[in-house]
Amino acid sequence: MEPKTEVNPIWACRGFPAFPIALVAVGDPGSSSSCNVMTAVLVHVFSFDPPVIGVGVSPCRYTFELMTKYDDFSINIPGKDLVEEVLFCGQKCGRETNKFEECGFTVTPGKKIGSPIIEECLVNLECKKKMVFDAGDHTWFLGEVVHALSRQVEEREKALLYWSGEFRLIGNCIRKR
Ligand SMILES: Cc1cc2nc3c(=O)[nH]c(=O)nc-3n(C[C@H](O)[C@H](O)[C@H](O)COP(=O)(O)O)c2cc1C
Repeated sequence: MEPKTEVNPIWACRGFPAFPIALVAVGDPGSSSSCNVMTAVLVHVFSFDPPVIGVGVSPCRYTFELMTKYDDFSINIPGKDLVEEVLFCGQKCGRETNKFEECGFTVTPGKKIGSPIIEECLVNLECKKKMVFDAGDHTWFLGEVVHALSRQVEEREKALLYWSGEFRLIGNCIRKR
């Protein structure tokens, strides 16, 4: 077996095989200047029951401003057909661009939250803000999932992953537990 080499701890996250990608939508869908969508790779499940999802947002993002202002947000899981839109939402700032419009997203009001959900995504999780904490260069916003929509499992396998600057898909199942 090849020996391991020491790596800079700042690169430690590259040791993880891949992360899920999400589109975080937040704000008032009735006001284009106070509503935004951003690509996030720092997304994690913090609790199954109650269901709590967290997203790490850098304080320099416009999304941070809105996540601080509003009490809820949605986590939307895009499929591979949205890879260009995901990149766009991860490169453009909502202060200058209406990313929903530019991406042609169907923006639907959440059922239980004020922030919108994105119809084209495979999964939509409506979250009510529960906890906020600083972890370093990103602030984590944890939200309880109060309503959820999901496509069938076969379709969800098209969900995008991200690793070291590359978008990927889920690989083969090699063992069931
Ligand atoms: C693949 C990818 C993943 C990203 N993940 C995050 C993330 O987890 N947290 C974050 O704050 N920014 C992340 N970004 C950067 C933001 O999406 C990007 O700065 C975006 O333009 C911010 O939009 P806003 O200014 O409208 O909020 C990511 C970008 C890409 C391309």
